[in-house]
Amino acid sequence: MQKIIFITGGAGFIGSHVVRLFVNKYSDYQIVNIDKLTYAGNLENLKDIENKENYIFEKVDITDEKAIFDLFAKYKPAGIIHLAAESHVDRSITNPSEFILTNIVGTTNLLNAAKKTWNNDFLNKIFYHISTDEVYGSLNDEGFFTETTPYSPRSPYSASKASSDMLVRAYFHTYGLPILISNCSNNYGPNQFPEKLIPLIINNIKNMKPIPVYGTGCNVRDWLFVIDHANAIDLIFHKGIIGETYNIGGNNEWKNIDIVKTVCRIMDTRLNRESGTSENLINFVKDRAGHDLRYAIDSSKLQNNLGWTPSLSFEEGIKLTIDWYLNNLEWLNNVVSGNYQKYYQDMYEK
Ligand code: NAD
Ligand code: DAU
Repeated sequence: MQKIIFITGGAGFIGSHVVRLFVNKYSDYQIVNIDKLTYAGNLENLKDIENKENYIFEKVDITDEKAIFDLFAKYKPAGIIHLAAESHVDRSITNPSEFILTNIVGTTNLLNAAKKTWNNDFLNKIFYHISTDEVYGSLNDEGFFTETTPYSPRSPYSASKASSDMLVRAYFHTYGLPILISNCSNNYGPNQFPEKLIPLIINNIKNMKPIPVYGTGCNVRDWLFVIDHANAIDLIFHKGIIGETYNIGGNNEWKNIDIVKTVCRIMDTRLNRESGTSENLINFVKDRAGHDLRYAIDSSKLQNNLGWTPSLSFEEGIKLTIDWYLNNLEWLNNVVSGNYQKYYQDMYEK
């Protein structure tokens, strides 16, 4: 019999790569993708696997408690990989409530539904919650986040993710729910919504629009190729120790301004533009409120205990990413139409 696995948020950026990996790799799993299809969810991301026999899509909002309980009763999943979330920090600053609802209430609905469905029969069951390094707060120039770094979230987004992590852990300690958590650094790669730094600047350079760099551009992020994150999720889901947390990171720290200049240089070559054309578009703008200075992840637990390593260098990954966007301009143009135009105007053109 096929094992039923729920993947929430499977139409989004990371979720779509996880769904593809699991559908293609595990024919003995029935993958049920649960997604509300917000502005960030796009079934185009899954065109290549949508007709596979071991794939089902359910358009459901995780904040709808009854709908979630009904889904669990219908499928009785053995595993849940929970990625559905409001994920953009800037949006959390303008509209925190949406983040509280989806990220905290939505996660609690899933926990309650899993607890009820499994009814203390936890053998071979897993509730795997996907989280972020932002829960640990902000670093200065030195040090790395480890799994034991105290939580210190500083944006409504990271506070909502930290709350959901705490709830997941509380269900492990209180009810014995078999949980796993991973906290990952910044992902980049194909299918990322162009509100996030890398696809936003690719899109702007393509269209010769200003490149908004917050503050001085000296904030530091650790970048990981999205397929390496999906591979880590696969490994943790199958080999992780129940109740444990794993940090995932690329060991690949960049100042924002250096990322921007790197993308500018590659784009000039790809678009046959005179060297320096794209850099001239750089525009330093007002800083993000409460902008975290630096994130850096120590992923040695995952590397040493489960044998994970990133497969791509940043050089390779960023070229692959830029080429994907340039070869998928229709995807890009479709997702930046409609509501996103209004968001962009409010955010950058007021
Ligand atoms: P995304 O915004 O691209 O996708 C989120 C998906 O969740 C979308 O398909 C959306 O439709 C769906 N969704 C949102 N609200 C929903 C709701 N109420 N009910 C059902 N579905 C809903 O996000 P992403 O960047 O792919 O991130 C996925 C997960 O990974 C999130 O939990 C995020 O916190 C975490 N994460 C992201 C990164 C990153 O760099 N992007 C890094 C670490 C962790
Ligand atoms: O660290 C993991 C997190 O990474 C995830 O949990 C989040 O879901 C994901 O959105 C991402 O958060 P960031 O805020 O780090 O990503 P973003 O792409 O929004 O910004 C990256 C950096 O670039 C950050 O320092 C802010 C800056 N930035 C961003 C935008 C959108 C700019 O300078 N200009 C911009 O226009």
